[in-house]
Order: sequence, then C-alpha cells, then structure tokens
Amino acid sequence: MNIVILAAGQGKRMYSNLPKVLHPIAGKALAQHVIDTARGLQPEKIVVVYGHGGETVRSALAAPDLAWAMQEPQLGTGHAVMQAVPQLPASEQTLVLYGDVPLTRIDTLERLLQAGKDGLAILTVNLADPSGYGRIVRSANGEVTRIVEEKDATANEKAICEVNTGIMAIPTARLNDWLGKLSNRNAQGEYYLTDIVALAVAEGLPVRTAQPAGEWEVLGVNSKVQLAELERIHQRNLANALLVHGVSLADPARIDIRGTLNCGRDVSIDVGCVFEGAVELGEAVDIGPYCVLKNVQVGAGARIAAFSHLEDAVVGPDAVVGPYARLRPGTRLGPEVHIGNFVEVKNSVIAAQSKANHLAYVGDAEIGERVNVGAGTITCNYDGANKHKTIIEDDVFIGSDTQLVAPVTVGKGATLGAGTTLTKSAPPGSLTVSRAKQLSIDGWQRPRKSRKD
Ligand code: UD1
Ligand code: CA
Repeated sequence: MNIVILAAGQGKRMYSNLPKVLHPIAGKALAQHVIDTARGLQPEKIVVVYGHGGETVRSALAAPDLAWAMQEPQLGTGHAVMQAVPQLPASEQTLVLYGDVPLTRIDTLERLLQAGKDGLAILTVNLADPSGYGRIVRSANGEVTRIVEEKDATANEKAICEVNTGIMAIPTARLNDWLGKLSNRNAQGEYYLTDIVALAVAEGLPVRTAQPAGEWEVLGVNSKVQLAELERIHQRNLANALLVHGVSLADPARIDIRGTLNCGRDVSIDVGCVFEGAVELGEAVDIGPYCVLKNVQVGAGARIAAFSHLEDAVVGPDAVVGPYARLRPGTRLGPEVHIGNFVEVKNSVIAAQSKANHLAYVGDAEIGERVNVGAGTITCNYDGANKHKTIIEDDVFIGSDTQLVAPVTVGKGATLGAGTTLTKSAPPGSLTVSRAKQLSIDGWQRPRKSRKD
C-alpha cells in the first residue's frame, strides 16, 4: 500500500506566516500527526504533496522515509494526487490522507483499506450540518454513484448529510488512468479527486464506504478556531486514556500533554500541568497544580509541589520538589532528596536524603548524601568565561547565605558557617567560616535629620 498526503493548500484563514500544516496540535505539527499515523500503517511508500510554504514545509518535516512531490500551482485535489503518481510503486492500494486532518485513528484507516480491498473505498461521515463538504450520492438501492461538491450540488443533493471526508483508498493500478480523465469543468475550475468515484462506478468496480468511530477523527483545520477546538478534543482524549489506566486527574479538562506521558499506578495530577517530550511518572507520584515537566523521570512516591518547572531532569523515589522549584537540564536527584521553594538546580547530582529547602542556586555540583544546603546558598560556578565544578561530600552542613566559589570541594562531614565565601576547599570534619569578626560600639548614635533653616 502507498500513502499520499495532500499538504499543498495555503491555509489563508489561519492569517499566519507559518504554513497551515506546520501549526501544532499537542506541540506537534498537523502534518507530522498525519505522517506518524501513515507510518503506523507500514506502507511501502509515503509521498507528501506540498506547495504553499514549499521549502519551509519540506525541511520541517524531512525524514528519510518520506518522498516529496511539488504541486505548483494548486489546481485541485485530483491534480495534487497526480503530482505524486510518478513516484508511486505498483502496490495494490493508494491511501489519500489530508495534511490538515490530524487525528484519524490507524484502526479507522485499516477498516477503510479493508473495505477497499476489491475496489474503491471512501471514508464518510454523517453530519448534522454538512455544508461545505462534498456529498455522497447514492442510488435507490443504496450504492454510491458519485460525489458532488457543494458548489456543484442541486438543492436535493445539498440535503444529503453523508459527506466525503476526503480520505480514500484507491486501487493504484487505476489511479493514473482515472486522474488522466478528470476535467476542470466545474464550479471551482479544479481537478476534483472526487470525480474518480463516478469513473470507478462506470467501470463496475465496487465503491464502498467506512466510517470513523468519532467525528473528531476526520475534522480538518482551516482556522485558529478549528485548531483550538481540535487541540481540546485531542487533549480530552489523552486525559481519558490516562483515567482509563487509573491515573487520577483533578480535572481532565485542565491538563496538556505535548509528547508522551507514562504513569505507574496511583499517580495523581492536579490542575494546570503541562507535560512535554517524554515524561515518566513512577508509582504513586503526586504532581501538584501548575507544574511544567519536560523530558523528566520521576521515581515512585515522589511529590512535585505546585508551580514547579522541571526540564531534562531525573527525580529519585520519595523525593519532594517545590513548591516553586526549578530543575534545569542535567539535574539528578537521588532518593528522598528535598528541593524547596525558589531553589534552582542545574547540571548537578544530589544524592540520597540531601536537602536544599530555600532560595538556593546549585549549578555544576556534585552533592553527596545527607547534605544540608542552607537558605541562600549559591554555587558560584561561572567566572565570566568558564564553568567550574563544586563538590560537596556526604554529611556536609552548609550554613545560610554561603557562596561556594568553584572549583571547590567541601570534605565529608564538614560544616560551613553562615555567610562564608568559600574560595579554597574546606577540609573534612571541621568548621570552616569566612566572616568579618563581629563588633559592637557602645553609645553609638544614629545620624539625625539636619534642620532645613
Ligand atoms: C475536499 C473534497 C470534499 C470533501 C472535503 C473534506 C475534493 C474536490 N473535495 O474539499 O469532497 O468533503 O475535502 O474536507 O476533493 N490540496 C492540495 N492541493 C490542491 C487542493 C487541495 O494539496 O490543489 C489539499 C489541501 O491542502 C487539503 C486537502 O487537499 O489538505 C483538501 O483541500 P480543500 O481545499 O480543503 O478541499 P475542499 O474543497 O474542502
Ligand atoms: Ca477543507
């Protein structure tokens, strides 16, 4: 089987410089959804017909398994498929998909291909309001006879509610011949792919139809309104799938997944969270409200509290992160680590049971087990030109408002006094403090406001 994806349309009603098929649903370009679905059907070849946005579309979607056909100018859907024909191998069926119809399920397309095994198959849907679509015209005994476009339809035909979704399975061997016979003598002056239906019927070939499980599977995007509607439908479907697998969602209408989210048992997710890239949540993980997690792995029993932002990070089992924490790329937290409010961690490993609970910056550091990082502690990892490493060994206690000027090492069990600016390594086991001696001046008077006169 071959797949032709039509993606040459302009998308004028998006009012955007970005070509229509590159607008995202769930963080992924519309056409990329279609390409991924196409791949799932394991076709012999996928040809994408492109035109508007030309090179932008092609380079955004480029992949070694895709073939490309340029359509310029755009003279209709039949003309579009014609551009792909020279590249199609002689496999039995050719499936036509639209680059702006992103959510069709593989299962639906498999049923369509099955229906078209010995002829032509059209994916159709019954709509309460069929306006704008091509109508499926059937004979008295219910056989499909042709498709008529709305602009060419009579009043009686316009009353038909079964519409063409545009998705079709066509016998490849007949394709070239049929497309050669198309004319553009119609209301839009276009070469309609839909006219091949009447040609198949004239040849006595069976024309069958299949229907999607849900209307949303065949909805296309022509405007930002429709893009937003499809995004909500898709997100709701993803949320339902999580619920079905036992994940607790405070509100399935207030979660956004832009990638893959895998959850263990008894995971609970509060409102307003965004998951990007590949996210894995272990058993009994609890995600508080308004968190953003991008390419993150969270170990069993860990809790991510409200308003935390995690990217390219690993959180160990039973760790507690946030509220208001930021884990930047390269962060790896061990078991039972606590990262509290307004703490930023970057490219650092923090081992089991260590804590940085308030207002700290930990960058390019290696922190051992059971370390306490006091409030306001900062690793000065950047000297203006290069980044340097801070090593803090097991059981260290760092007093508040300490600066660790890297490269520097704090030995096992050491204590750093509050306010220390550590510029040399601190030996294990002892107290290191760098602080001006405290002094008090007796009878000292505060300055007073001077009189104006
Ligand atoms: C088409 C169908 C109509 C169906 C409707 C479903 C035809 C003649 N009509 O109508 O029966 O109900 O889709 O949405 O096929 N495209 C190209 N090159 C072109 C023209 C279109 O690549 O020259 C692509 C578009 O980018 C889009 C798809 O084909 O992805 C459909 O084009 P569109 O203009 O939306 O078709 P409709 O007129 O809506
Ligand atoms: Ca359309």
